[in-house]
Amino acid sequence: MDFSAADVTRVLDLAQAVKRNPGAYTTRLAGKSIAMIFAKQSTRTRVSFEVGIHQLGGQALSLSTSGGTGMQMGRGETVEDTAKVMSRFVHAIVIRTFGQDQIDGLAQYGSIPIINALTDMYHPCQALADLLTVREKLGTTAGKKLVYVGAANNVSNSLMLAGPRSGMDVVVACPDSLRPNPAVLERAQADAKAAGTQVGVDTDPMRAVKGADVIYTDTWVSMGEEEQAKALIAKLHGFTVNRAMMEATGRDALFMHCLPAHRGEEVEAEVMDGKWSVVFDEAENRLHAQKAVLLLLLGGESWS
Ligand code: CP
Ligand code: NVA
Repeated sequence: MDFSAADVTRVLDLAQAVKRNPGAYTTRLAGKSIAMIFAKQSTRTRVSFEVGIHQLGGQALSLSTSGGTGMQMGRGETVEDTAKVMSRFVHAIVIRTFGQDQIDGLAQYGSIPIINALTDMYHPCQALADLLTVREKLGTTAGKKLVYVGAANNVSNSLMLAGPRSGMDVVVACPDSLRPNPAVLERAQADAKAAGTQVGVDTDPMRAVKGADVIYTDTWVSMGEEEQAKALIAKLHGFTVNRAMMEATGRDALFMHCLPAHRGEEVEAEVMDGKWSVVFDEAENRLHAQKAVLLLLLGGESWS
C-alpha cells in the first residue's frame, strides 16, 4: 500500500535487471545490516531474504521471537521499545508475524524501513514476486486477469492491492463465508477505480475463471488457523483447482501458488505439476523482487 503504481513498476524493472545481471549489485548493501524477525515458519521468505542480502553484500541477522534464544519481544518487550532499539543497530527490519499491528507499530516507532514478510493480513513481497512472474510469462501485467481461487487470506489481500498497481484485474473466487476482509476489499476497489482496473469477488469459481490469464491459489489453512482446519476444508469443497477449472479459462492460463502446496486440497497434483504451472519460477522470483525492494529502500538504487 505504500507503493504507487510507478513504484511497483520501478521494483519490477529493477528486479528484472538484478535477475539478468546479479554481478552488478554485489556490493550495493555493503556495511548495511538487516534484521530478519520470524514469528512464524518459513522456507522461501527466510531463505530468499537471507541469500538476497548476502548477494547484495549486506549482513542478515536471522532472529526469532520464540524459544530460549529468541528476541525479548517474545517475552513481552513492547513493539515501541523494540523499534527504537533496533533502529539504533540495523538499517532495516524484515518481519513475519501474526498481527498487522506489530508491523504498523515498528514502522510508527522505528526510524528505519520495515518490510512485511507476511502477517495475518498481508503478504506484499509475495505479491511483488507474483507480478514479476506474470510480467515474465505473459510479457506484461497490464490488462491481464488473475483469479484467486480458495479462501480469502493474506495472499489474496495483497494480490487485490497489487492488481490496481500493475494494471491487472483481480477476482477472488471464494465461498461466501470466506470472503476478503471488507476494509481491504474496499481499499482495493477504490484503488482499482482510480486505476481503471477491476477487483471483484465471486462465489462461483467456474464462472469466475472464464477468461482468466492466471489461476492462483494458496493453502486453505493459513499459519495460525490450525484449530479451524476441519471447518475451513469443509467450506472449501468445490474450490480445488483442477484440470476442468484450468480448461474453463478458455485460454492457456498460468497456474500460480505462493507455496507451500497441499496436493489434493487446494490444487490437484495434475495441475500443480502440469503444463500450466509456473510455481517454481514464481518461488525463485521472491529472491529477485526482494533484492530490488532492499536496494530501493536502503539506497542501493534510486527510485527514479
Ligand atoms: N510463499 C512463502 O511465503 O513461503 P514461506 O512460508 O516458505 O516463506
Ligand atoms: N496464507 C498462507 C501463506 C503462506 C506463505 C499463510 O499465511 O500461512
